[in-house]
Amino acid sequence: MKAVVANGERGLEYTTNAEKPAPAKGQILGRVSHIGLNPIDWKIAYNVPISKGTIGGTDFVAIVEEVGEGVDADKYIGAKVSGWVPGFFSFSGSAWAEYVCTDAKLVYFVPDSISPLNASTIPCALTTASQGIHQRIGLPMPRADGSANPTRRKWFLVWGASSSVGQYAVQFAKLGGCDVVATCSPKNFKLVEKLGATFVFDYHDSQVVEKIKQATNDSVFFGFDAISLSHTITKCIMAFSLEAKAAKLITVLGPPENPREEAVDVITAFSFSLFNAKFEFFGEIVQGSSEDYEHIAKLFELLPILLEKKIVLPNKAREFAGGLQAIPDALNEFSSGNHSAIKFVIDV
Ligand SMILES: NC(=O)c1ccc[n+]([C@@H]2O[C@H](COP(=O)([O-])OP(=O)(O)OC[C@H]3O[C@@H](n4cnc5c(N)ncnc54)[C@H](OP(=O)(O)O)[C@@H]3O)[C@@H](O)[C@H]2O)c1
Repeated sequence: MKAVVANGERGLEYTTNAEKPAPAKGQILGRVSHIGLNPIDWKIAYNVPISKGTIGGTDFVAIVEEVGEGVDADKYIGAKVSGWVPGFFSFSGSAWAEYVCTDAKLVYFVPDSISPLNASTIPCALTTASQGIHQRIGLPMPRADGSANPTRRKWFLVWGASSSVGQYAVQFAKLGGCDVVATCSPKNFKLVEKLGATFVFDYHDSQVVEKIKQATNDSVFFGFDAISLSHTITKCIMAFSLEAKAAKLITVLGPPENPREEAVDVITAFSFSLFNAKFEFFGEIVQGSSEDYEHIAKLFELLPILLEKKIVLPNKAREFAGGLQAIPDALNEFSSGNHSAIKFVIDV
């Protein structure tokens, strides 16, 4: 089958000779229609030595063509589903190909109200935000009827709120009962307010931490740093309330330094753990977790209704024509970091 694979020299190449996968027990095999790109795609493709011929890719939308043992064929065959897979790793499927295999429990059914273009942007970013906010912090999941969870009377800071992960963090924090204060560039203030933030500040402003403290009456007790560079983590920690004790900040890269250890627990969300496998990631051994797997399976059962009722909104997307062969160019542009509040999608 056609696929985009590692060339063995920290780069990518297009092939027509990749092996078509077969669904194992509990899995589906889908014909890929759309592929969403994530930062992790280029970080691995360009920085990690990967064996030549290994297929990459994370987010996808696919039409199910086959199911493995134990999967309800009537429910899945012909369905439009979306999920993400840890491309370049051998323990599960890869998305940059004509066909993808993954566990049936790790896909959601794409509702008709969401285009496959938008659907393909959702899985990796959304699961990262959910792991951080619902599992590691413990805020409640959104309710299927859209009704509010009990208010926490505490402010939740989302740094990098216009990023893909940040947009879901704003929505989950608000739906989890918190008031949200956020940072992004001024051009994205309206978007972030629409997603649920009460106050939005420009992270380029040298007074941003003071402004967050003033607007929230020094009441930030939860945070999600969707950027997680050392200076953004420090600013997030400094924006937490002076009264904070064991308050929680989620980062997406780690482990960070923490100048206020007694006040703020800094916890790194790592969405690859949902695959419940043991593997090496940038030189470190990672042990996945069945709890993380089951959490995402539950979230994906709920997601179609959340999307249909517009309780959760997907990111905006930009489509790249040209099929799988367009991936290297799209990834080069994506890795330059000049995009803002947008996902790059390949129409296969
Ligand atoms: N741990 C995990 O499991 C996991 C999973 C997914 C992603 N990640 C990581 O999470 C990070 C975000 O991924 P993503 O897909 O959400 O990124 P993205 O959408 O590509 O991020 C782009 C956005 O970042 C914002 N930004 C850049 N520098 C910023 C800063 N200093 N402060 C605040 N905002 C800033 C920009 O906002 P403006 O345009 O408004 O300036 C832009 O909209 C990446 O490093 C990725 O590798 C980790």
